[in-house]
Parts: sequence; C-alpha cells; structure tokens
Amino acid sequence: MARYSFDGTDIAGDIAGKYGFDGDLVAIFATPTQAVVDKWHHYIPLYDRYFSRFRNRPVRFLEIGVSQGGSLSMWRKYFGEDAVLFGIDVNPKCAAFNGHSAQVRIGSQDDAEFLARVVSEMGGVDIVLDDGSHQMDHIRSSLASLFPALSMGGIYVIEDLHTAYWDTFGGGAHSDGNFFVEVRKIIDDMHHWYSGRVPNDPQRAQTVTGLHIHDSMVVIDKGQVYQPTHSKVGRV
Ligand SMILES: C[S@@+](CC[C@H](N)C(=O)[O-])C[C@H]1O[C@@H](n2cnc3c(N)ncnc32)[C@H](O)[C@@H]1O
Repeated sequence: MARYSFDGTDIAGDIAGKYGFDGDLVAIFATPTQAVVDKWHHYIPLYDRYFSRFRNRPVRFLEIGVSQGGSLSMWRKYFGEDAVLFGIDVNPKCAAFNGHSAQVRIGSQDDAEFLARVVSEMGGVDIVLDDGSHQMDHIRSSLASLFPALSMGGIYVIEDLHTAYWDTFGGGAHSDGNFFVEVRKIIDDMHHWYSGRVPNDPQRAQTVTGLHIHDSMVVIDKGQVYQPTHSKVGRV
C-alpha cells in the first residue's frame, strides 16, 4: 500500500484541491493527535456527504475496526457529544480505548450474537461503518447481521473494498467471493419488480432504498421501499 501513501505535507490542501472539499472534517482528520487514524483522502468528503445530516444529534454509530482508536476520536469530534459511539474489534488490546471517545467492545464482526448484544446495548443503530478485517466473508456476514438491525433512514457503509479484488481477502477480479458480486444481488433485488425474479433477500428488497458505489466504498441506504408507480402529467 506504500505506493498510495501521500508524500506531501498539506493533507487539507490535497483534499481541497482534488475533491473541492474543505469542511471541518478535513481539519479534524488532518490535525495530529495522540490517536493514530489512517484514512484515504477521498473518503473525507464522502463521509461528510453521507454523515453530515446526523451531526450534533443522538445518532447511534457503530464502527467495525478500532485499531489505535484514532477514527473513534475523529468521529466524536465530528458527530458531537450527543452521539452514541461504539467501536468493535477482535483484538483484545483495543479494550484500552474503551471510554476514551467511545465505547469499545471486543468480539468478531462475524459473530452474530456478539453484534446483536452490542446493538442492544447501543439501543439500536443508525450508521454502521465496516472498517474491520476486510475479509469478504466477514463483510457479508456483518451485513447480514447488522443491516436488519439498522434503523429506517439509517446507512450502512463498507470501506476499503479494493480488497474485493485481492484473493488474500477472499476476493479476486473474477471470484464469486468478490463483494461486488453481493452488490449485484442487491441491485437485482432493488429491481425485482421489473425482472419478475424472486429477490435473493426479500427483506433487503423491501428496505434498500439506495446504493452508492465509490472507489473502495459502498453506501447502502435503508428505508421503506414502495412498489414503484408513475403518472403522466400534462396535456397529451
Ligand atoms: C483498518 S483497522 C481499523 C482502523 C480504524 N477504523 C481507523 O480508521 O483508525 C482494522 C481493524 O479491524 C480489526 N479486525 C480484524 N478482524 C476483525 C474481526 N473479525 N472482527 C472485528 N474486528 C476485526 C483489526 O484488529 C484492526 O484493528
């Protein structure tokens, strides 16, 4: 990954120059603190695009993957004190970050019972950000567990999906394990009205209202899906 490392010093200038974004998440991200955070520059405006409507509200936010605690610290500054922030990680050392900026719980993202306990403790969940193992089977199993638990109006974000093209993560350009094969199933389910096919996942067919694909990031909107209808308006 070294070839993608930013070799300049002006992180904010790089993000503003390339992506036209200078919101306060840039300063929050780019200002060094004790807690290390490592994010791709193009994610910063995307986070703001999808997360800004939840700021300064009691949003329930769950990040999979705590590492050195840096992102949880960033999210606390971004979302504000009213946010219910939880991070989970399989590494027991991450328990050291519990109570710093967020609650941290130790367990695996492919453990459905563990995830259910965490969501129950949170009182529900409005945003999931999967920055965990990036293993394809883990990404799919977390989505299967957590998407049904997500509130209506909530969003599910999976990042670092360049790993979908790498066999070391269970992916590969032509592999059935590639997470974008699952994404295609979600797209098909969104359009089941027109294909006449039985949805792969009936619940998702009723609750996925949008799907956004960016470089290495997928964002899934949850809400009530209605049978589509159209009207012809005006004189013919
Ligand atoms: C990319 S790091 C997270 C970085 C952090 N979100 C940040 O931006 O600062 C990935 C983390 O996922 C954790 N992880 C790996 N396998 C996991 C699993 N099965 N369940 C939960 N966390 C896992 C690793 O221990 C590691 O801390």
